[in-house]
Amino acid sequence: MATELKTREQWGTRIGLVLAMAGNAVGLGNFLRFPVQAAENGGGTFMIPYFISLVLLGIPLMWLEWGMGRYGGRFGHGTLPGMFQVVWRHPAAKYLGVVGLAGPLIIFVYYTYVVGWMLGFSFLSLTGDYFGLTSFEEMGAYLRSFQDIYDSSAHGGWVAVVFFLLTLALVVYTVARGISGGIEKMALIGMPVLFLFALVLMVRVLTLPATELGSPVQGLNFIWQPEWRKLWEAEVWLAAAGQIFFTLSLGLGTIQTYASYLSERDDITLTGLATASTNEFVEVVLGGTIAIPAAVTFFGIVGMQMVTGAFDLGIVAMAVVFQSLPGPELVGRLAGFMWYFLLFIAGITSSVALASPTIAFLQEEFGFPRRRVARLLGLVAIGLAAFHVLFYRYGFLDEWDYWAGTFGLVLVATLEVVVVRLGMGMERFWEEMHRGAELRVPRFFFFVLKWVTPLFLSILLGWWTVTEAWPNLRMDGVAPQQVAVRWLSRLVMLAVIALAVALVHRAWRRHPERYAEAQA
Ligand code: ALA
Repeated sequence: MATELKTREQWGTRIGLVLAMAGNAVGLGNFLRFPVQAAENGGGTFMIPYFISLVLLGIPLMWLEWGMGRYGGRFGHGTLPGMFQVVWRHPAAKYLGVVGLAGPLIIFVYYTYVVGWMLGFSFLSLTGDYFGLTSFEEMGAYLRSFQDIYDSSAHGGWVAVVFFLLTLALVVYTVARGISGGIEKMALIGMPVLFLFALVLMVRVLTLPATELGSPVQGLNFIWQPEWRKLWEAEVWLAAAGQIFFTLSLGLGTIQTYASYLSERDDITLTGLATASTNEFVEVVLGGTIAIPAAVTFFGIVGMQMVTGAFDLGIVAMAVVFQSLPGPELVGRLAGFMWYFLLFIAGITSSVALASPTIAFLQEEFGFPRRRVARLLGLVAIGLAAFHVLFYRYGFLDEWDYWAGTFGLVLVATLEVVVVRLGMGMERFWEEMHRGAELRVPRFFFFVLKWVTPLFLSILLGWWTVTEAWPNLRMDGVAPQQVAVRWLSRLVMLAVIALAVALVHRAWRRHPERYAEAQA
């Protein structure tokens, strides 16, 4: 058995592991994406496909990814190429795993760029920089100026770049310090602060007095009011399943990397369920009761119709809300700081997770020291993020977000299920998953994992390909001035994937004996 087994890093404490895994899952998706998805897809009705997707896709895949990660870690592999290879001996297996290596790197770059905006807005809230821009239009223009390097109407276009670099530096510093010394410490400090800020904001929002336009209760109704006819719309089901993937970080390749640092005897069934539940609490209870009820209170239901996306809600609308809070301006500034900073924590704990597969791969498959790899990752991220900075207004980021951050997740999850079924078989995987288990999972889930999840995934993948991926690929509806940059965006993504294929190929050629040994 490979020598790496003995030297592999491990999580320090159980609570640290749970918080790190929760930090991995809890992200911008919980506070920004979820409320917008719920409100746009039938309100309370959305929760029906949402919970069905959680039970039939989310939780079973969570166990699958924890199990795959812990199993791969036993053979010294923290990323999908190696994990697929030890699960399924076919020579193609490692190449199928490339999507789970290149994907998180691609997402890491633009996700961290956006997390930098949250750091920026927490600072700008404290200094009161945007106070005085009290309309949705003014604040929208302010955000666009912040996002667009060519627009200096609010401040120099470079400001967002500075916050991105600070965020990236913190990610690099954290991952360089290792699993328990860096990532676990960040989660142990960050997650309680996130919970505290979210609870304070939730209480403040729910106790807001009604205005002429609306009230927090109307806001809750706006999200939760069922629209039954929506239940029969396929888009609502796709949106719900997509949200489950994104919020639980499934198909990203990050859960597997974190789980690879578990020991063979560590429980995964109960701990996996605990982290999924923590994420759901943060999403449904905290994420559902801050932004929309606050925005409805000050803009009313009609005003909410202007809110069409996650950033419109989470940044623009919320910045106006903070300026409208009762009491002195300082209250609004502090509330703004707490909101954007909790988004920053939610985001950065997911960023370090997204960085982890690349770090683990170069460390394990090429033997580079962690610190050096972390610095290298920082440089690569700066190079790739430059495209986002320069071409944000042309939809460069949207391409990556769609192909890697939405479609890619379902693709990776589908491959995982296929590889487990072809390689180990579900029966053996089920036993493997229960090694050291503190919770015997009801047999019902075996059936789900074996039949229902793959069926659900195939329908999802097929439907998306026809209704979204194909029109997206043809760039239906894309403004003509964006087409060239969007092609460039795809080419850069393909280049990252090609590089990952080459690295996997080289790693396997360097140490064929190691892989043969791991398979034995
Ligand atoms: N799961 C992470 C989020 O929700 C990626 O943002």
